[in-house]
Amino acid sequence: MSRSAHPAGPRHGDVLPEGHYFAPPADLNALDPKVWARTVDRTDEGSVTVGGLDVRALAEEFGTPAYVLDESDFRARCRAWRDAFGGEADVFYAGKAFLSRAVVRWLHEEGLNLDVCSGGELATALSAGMPAERIALHGNNKSIAEIERAVEAGVGRIVLDSFQEIVRVAHVAERLGKRQRVQIRVTVGVEAHTHEFIATAHEDQKFGIALAGGRAAEAVRRALKLDGLELVGIHSHIGSQIFDMAGFEVSARRVVQLLAEVRDEHGVELPEIDLGGGLGIAYTSDDDPREPQEIAVALSRIVTRECEAAGLAVPRISVEPGRAIVGPTAFTLYEVGTVKELDGLRTYISVDGGMSDNIRTALYDAEYSVALVSRSSDADPMLVRVVGKHCESGDIVVRDAFLPADVAPGDLIAVPATGAYCRSMASNYNHALRPPVVAVQDGAARAIVRRETEEDLMRLDVG
Ligand code: LLP
Repeated sequence: MSRSAHPAGPRHGDVLPEGHYFAPPADLNALDPKVWARTVDRTDEGSVTVGGLDVRALAEEFGTPAYVLDESDFRARCRAWRDAFGGEADVFYAGKAFLSRAVVRWLHEEGLNLDVCSGGELATALSAGMPAERIALHGNNKSIAEIERAVEAGVGRIVLDSFQEIVRVAHVAERLGKRQRVQIRVTVGVEAHTHEFIATAHEDQKFGIALAGGRAAEAVRRALKLDGLELVGIHSHIGSQIFDMAGFEVSARRVVQLLAEVRDEHGVELPEIDLGGGLGIAYTSDDDPREPQEIAVALSRIVTRECEAAGLAVPRISVEPGRAIVGPTAFTLYEVGTVKELDGLRTYISVDGGMSDNIRTALYDAEYSVALVSRSSDADPMLVRVVGKHCESGDIVVRDAFLPADVAPGDLIAVPATGAYCRSMASNYNHALRPPVVAVQDGAARAIVRRETEEDLMRLDVG
């Protein structure tokens, strides 16, 4: 969406309260490949297809709302990340973005590793056959039960987040007669340019151990002394939905500095560094994300240069993209229920989902795009707000966008780039039934997560 001050003042139909206006896209039927999954296309007839399947048929078979995920796109993005480093780095998909057993199998088949951050994600990974040594366990407050399960299963690494956890993991490992490979998560003091709630490397927040004040160096000192731990590296994750590489470069530089200090103090060269996830994706045509290849080259170059300067062997790099792999691969398919024109303001389009299937707009002011997908239209653009069916006015899916003025109840519209942090953050607010995730590939579709039913709700309600 191009948001710019309107030189001539607001015009009817495109007024925004902020005194800005959106320029409608030149062609409302066009589907920008930046924001849509790779196999999405509009047929000559006007409707949209994905994986060779018409969205109208998908809506008929699976109902709406539904997350529709392009499996071949997901796999292609996995391969792009794996190949970007030429085999010289490990890619851990961040399961918090979206995880299901099918996803675990795809990751396994495409040669990726998996970052989990809870017992539930760990259970999903193990139950779908991800080899434990390819799993990393994260979290700033892992329970003893989660730690035990991970150590018993033999996960490849546990990322330690606090002084207490260093001792906790060591005790569990010793009790189980194991030596657990661990990394220490540090905060490097970088202000990532993203929403405050998803920035994680500045000092005043809950994650990691600060490099500042020698705290991270102290954590290394303690971890190296404990028999239950094999300290293999340092971890830094600076935030999410970031476009600017500068933060990653500073982070890499500071982590390498710590490795040099550790070598000087202990005579130990830690063999791994993990630079986390956080790479941004395009939610609207205005966003310009980087390609994995470009990111890999930049990160490898900076780590190599810093290590050479410090006289260190270059450690094995790992990264943890979540959003950048799954985000662009899915869209949410909704049916329009009501169309309400507010004179001189905008038109509210109510869909059959809302903040229960996409909380990101309400939570982070996230911007999304939207398109009419069950047909094409030559009608003029109309300024719309796509809202859900929940009982509050903050229930907004797409704050400001243009749709053809003839959009009507029964039309299907779709919001692209909803693969990450939508199903995984979905809720049952107002006892909404969480939508299915439908995977499509080569003309075939199947639910990899089925739609919730009222029986599912009742099963938990044991009063
Ligand atoms: N590694 C660690 C340690 C993380 O905490 C995260 C995300 C990732 C990797 C993956 O980040 P990604 O590549 O997906 O940006 N719910 C928020 C995002 C929270 C991110 C939490 N950690 C959102 O919807 O924007």
